[in-house]
Amino acid sequence: FNHMMTAFVGESGIDESQIAAIEGQIEAAEKAMVDKRANGGMDWRDLPYNQTEVVADINDYVESVKDDFDAFVVLGIGGSALGPIAVQQAINHPYYNELSKEQRGGYPKLYVADNVDPEKLVSLLEVLDLEKTLFNVITKSGSTSETMSQFMIIKKILEEKLGAEKAKNHIVCTTDAKNGNLRPIADQEGYKSFIIPAGVGGRFSELTPVGLLPAAMCGINIAELLAGAGYMDELCKTEDTFKNPAAMYAILHYLGMKKGKNISVIMPYADTLKFIGDWYAQLWAESLGKKFDNDGNVVHVGQTPVRALGATDQHSQVQLYAEGPKDKIIVFVGVDQYKTSLNIPKIYGDIPSLGFLGGETHNKLIQTEQMATEYALLKGGQANMTITLPEVNEFTLGQILYLFEVATGFAGELLNINAFDQPGVEEGKNATYAMFGRPGYEKKKAELDARPAK
Ligand code: PA5
Repeated sequence: FNHMMTAFVGESGIDESQIAAIEGQIEAAEKAMVDKRANGGMDWRDLPYNQTEVVADINDYVESVKDDFDAFVVLGIGGSALGPIAVQQAINHPYYNELSKEQRGGYPKLYVADNVDPEKLVSLLEVLDLEKTLFNVITKSGSTSETMSQFMIIKKILEEKLGAEKAKNHIVCTTDAKNGNLRPIADQEGYKSFIIPAGVGGRFSELTPVGLLPAAMCGINIAELLAGAGYMDELCKTEDTFKNPAAMYAILHYLGMKKGKNISVIMPYADTLKFIGDWYAQLWAESLGKKFDNDGNVVHVGQTPVRALGATDQHSQVQLYAEGPKDKIIVFVGVDQYKTSLNIPKIYGDIPSLGFLGGETHNKLIQTEQMATEYALLKGGQANMTITLPEVNEFTLGQILYLFEVATGFAGELLNINAFDQPGVEEGKNATYAMFGRPGYEKKKAELDARPAK
């Protein structure tokens, strides 16, 4: 994080004295993190350790059904979709669905239907062979309109096509153990189901069956994912704040926000990590974007996440990052060792402006471009930091997911807000229910009807 500091980027950066000045706040945040974990306020912190049976159940289920299905379709949204996409894209072949089943290790293709755009779901149904498709309905609350309406559509289609009895084996549910509509439905219908632990909220649920089942269904080693998260948990306990990755991430972003850095750019230099950006965007935005602090004061805090991809977005966004307003923190995510190496042929040696590339590799080119972009930002006095993965695998992915989760919790403590609720999202959900005439939402409907006309 040198490039976050004033010594490197000048006035746009953070001075060590600013960190020292909030020492009391940092200590209080550290204590709150420990207390909340001990008192059941952060159950997601223990997911690396308490899921041995869950992992075995998931792996057994996958083994028992994978030969029967060519496609596995996630019906979920937000925290019930972004993690499964991110993990699958990071670990598996970038064209996974285009490989043969044998090339996919015998596992089905993965699709995630996370929107209610009618064109998309209808189009997906056109490419699926329902006889060979397993649908995973994922919803913590069991009431999300997008997911539950998709479920209702799919259930009807499956029953019409396959008959009610056979259709049951084509639906697997991931939801709360007790609450919501999906649990009683799953029990009554006899669907196979997995549990999202009660104390784990949507965007913190990737390391529960929400993410573990879709990952295992694509041949991903979920025990390693959890082991990586556990490893990061240890790093995040480091007492020296400057060596504690989650604490430093949170502190620097918190102090950055105080200086008007209202944008958090995440820029991996690996296509495999592109969708980690989507997952991070939800985590950071939905957790930290809050109107009220814990004392009821109106604060309107948060940072707008922006997803970028290196080197692609060097040719679209980096001009802004290097020379635009100093209202951003750019987080580069680099990779030491890519899964493959690609040589650039030694041709056009007689054209110096091309010949210099010959004999080099794309690996060196992308890594050099990352360093060069870091330098351009440094020169422009733009605060940035870099996270480097030795390579992208289940273990390192588990680490980075867990790192961002702990950093988010820590930033929430520093901001003195509740990072684990989402009243703004609920407002929109409730307004939808009211507009649709859902029973129990009459008061909300009256409130809506009284709004000024557009
Ligand atoms: O983080 C959250 O809580 C939300 O983004 C949810 O994941 C999202 O709204 C979907 O909710 P559910 O899993 O209850 O269907």
